Amino acid sequence: MVRGNIKLTNPERFAGKYEIPAEKIQNAIKKATDKWLVKLEQFNNKFPGTTSKEDRYEMGENSSWTQGMHTGSMLLAYELTGNEKFLDYAKAQLDSYYERYETRTGLWSHDVGFVFTPSCIALYRFTKDEKIKEMCIGAAEHLYEHLYSQKGGFILRSHKNKDNDAGCRTMMDTLMNIPLFFWAYEQTGDQKFMDAAKSQLAITEKHLIRKDGSSFHHFMFDVETHAPVRGLTFQGHADDSTWTRGHAWGVYGFPVAYTYTKDESLLPLHRDVTYFALNHLPKNNIPYYDYDFVEECDEAKDSSAALINACGMMEAMKYLPDDAEEKAVYQNASAKLLEAVIDNCMDYENKDFDGLVNWVTCSAPHNLCIDGCTSYGDFFLLEALMRYTHPDWKRYW
Ligand code: GLY
Repeated sequence: MVRGNIKLTNPERFAGKYEIPAEKIQNAIKKATDKWLVKLEQFNNKFPGTTSKEDRYEMGENSSWTQGMHTGSMLLAYELTGNEKFLDYAKAQLDSYYERYETRTGLWSHDVGFVFTPSCIALYRFTKDEKIKEMCIGAAEHLYEHLYSQKGGFILRSHKNKDNDAGCRTMMDTLMNIPLFFWAYEQTGDQKFMDAAKSQLAITEKHLIRKDGSSFHHFMFDVETHAPVRGLTFQGHADDSTWTRGHAWGVYGFPVAYTYTKDESLLPLHRDVTYFALNHLPKNNIPYYDYDFVEECDEAKDSSAALINACGMMEAMKYLPDDAEEKAVYQNASAKLLEAVIDNCMDYENKDFDGLVNWVTCSAPHNLCIDGCTSYGDFFLLEALMRYTHPDWKRYW
């Protein structure tokens, strides 16, 4: 399919260089990291669950897809402040990853990369501890052995349900799990990791990204043959809609994949996906949970998607030529999205919540954490602030 044809419906909205006032950015960094410093005493090395209830985290074990980003948020706070307390806190969580890896707790879905990449792979970079590296390569082997379908060339949603319609699917979220394969390839030279990641990218382009740059959340395959069946949703509004956060994993996942593969076809694809997202932003630049909703309404919002989109655009800007139209758009839009989150979602004075940003929705159709806080909201706020202030920052993904 020819990609790179999607145009901005309102180019004026993202025209020209836009900068967030330096004081606003520095205040946001201070506010977020000061809050994390207080919170780490309260968190006491337990992990926030996948969602929050009434803006409170229920603290528990390291067992779902979000905990890697909780640890990663501590590492970002360390890098932003230089305060070793954050690094020590993250290091103290390592044992829970070793235990989780040994027991394979909560590692039977596509989300293995979300668990190990922003936490343990990032910690390996700081510590150079070979034991961490060994575990992360083992995690990539596990993902490959148990979740990657050789027959179909894609990563299954779930091992447990791989033999039925609920599990024999692949999804947008997986774009942020394949960096684990890319990293494992770099560490081991084992070609199977690179081939699997490339195949996942090709399947995503072919079946999940529609001609107009929108995306299905899931794509189902035949349980026997693994031949393609149809696209559908899980966390979005409708099968033919575009779930905002799933789409954001593409806005970020494609440029990350480009850095590892240098596949030029990913760039126009990324532009289509990103322009689709920018064309569906409400006036305040905080998207609703599904791009079916653009006009002001009471639907759930997802500020985490605004942050993930900002990070994806800032990543892509690094290797686009200066005269590329989209480079200027990404500069402007990434700053506006980050600023919208700072302005609307970090009101710690007036609202008592456990996270760093509110207005994050885990799953509107399942009534899970509507306009609340989550570990991925926390992580991507800090990552966006880091990227904005340190364009040469080395990403964890
Ligand atoms: N599992 C990824 C997400 O909910 O965004």
